[in-house]
Amino acid sequence: MNKRVALVTGGNGGIGTEICKQLNASGHRVISTCVDAERENVRAWQQGLAEKGMEVDWVECNVADFDACAAMAEVVLARHGQVDVLVNAAGITRDGFLHKMARHNWESVISINLSGAYNVTRQFIEGMRERGYGRIINISSVNGQAGQFGQTNYSAAKAGLHGFSMALAKEGARKGITANTVSPGYVDTAMTAAMPDEVRNQIVSQIPAGRMARPEEVARVVAFLAEEASAYINGANIPVNGAQFTSF
Ligand code: CAA
Repeated sequence: MNKRVALVTGGNGGIGTEICKQLNASGHRVISTCVDAERENVRAWQQGLAEKGMEVDWVECNVADFDACAAMAEVVLARHGQVDVLVNAAGITRDGFLHKMARHNWESVISINLSGAYNVTRQFIEGMRERGYGRIINISSVNGQAGQFGQTNYSAAKAGLHGFSMALAKEGARKGITANTVSPGYVDTAMTAAMPDEVRNQIVSQIPAGRMARPEEVARVVAFLAEEASAYINGANIPVNGAQFTSF
């Protein structure tokens, strides 16, 4: 049988890279999207994976731009024929209290983190319905479940992603398509490294596990949901947060 094809948006990010690796290891043909500004980094990233025996294709795409997503889909379908597994992992933070938040910081987070999932999924959902198979996995956050100081934009987008998963799960349930959410806690990536040290240390001190997650601990849940045998897990929101959610 041909390999299932998996597309990971933001696949060159901290969590995304581990998702690409684990989907590759579980026998998928893997493609990542990246944005223009990351192009040179992505070449080095792809080369690094190739040296470890992992072949990952990439296509340039700003997920906030619907037309760019349509163009990306044309390239992906021309090269790989179809997409069976879609992981919406592209995301940014623009933290700040709402009373100080500039409109562009609201809009960029909503457009990338939430509308990006629509813009990309819309390109592939009809093909999944026609073939009667799809696995859609949206990467949310503990902060979409609980809210976080300085993240009205991010928490709104991440909470919205799970609404998107639940509705899409119902629409796809009789068509062999599942849509699920994975909600990581604080993960050891460049995104959390960008937080002020004292804020990060204070947050980590409150995580019952006493540490941040490793990206591979999140990716294994994604790989599990991507399996054909995970067909009856649909519309779920799976936390991977070291018991953080239960401590709010
Ligand atoms: N808990 C309790 N109080 C808090 C708080 C918190 N988490 N964050 C801020 N405050 C309080 C401060 O103690 C301070 O109180 P006082 O005025 O009484 O001293 C007040 O709010 C103002 O705080 P700052 O001086 O820090 O205000 P600021 O405007 O400079 O920054 C902030 C505010 C943007 C929220 C900053 O604290 C920050 O960046 N926080 C981290 C936000 C965060 O968790 N981001 C996660 C990024 S990683 C990610 O998002 C991945 C994921 O999915 C988990």
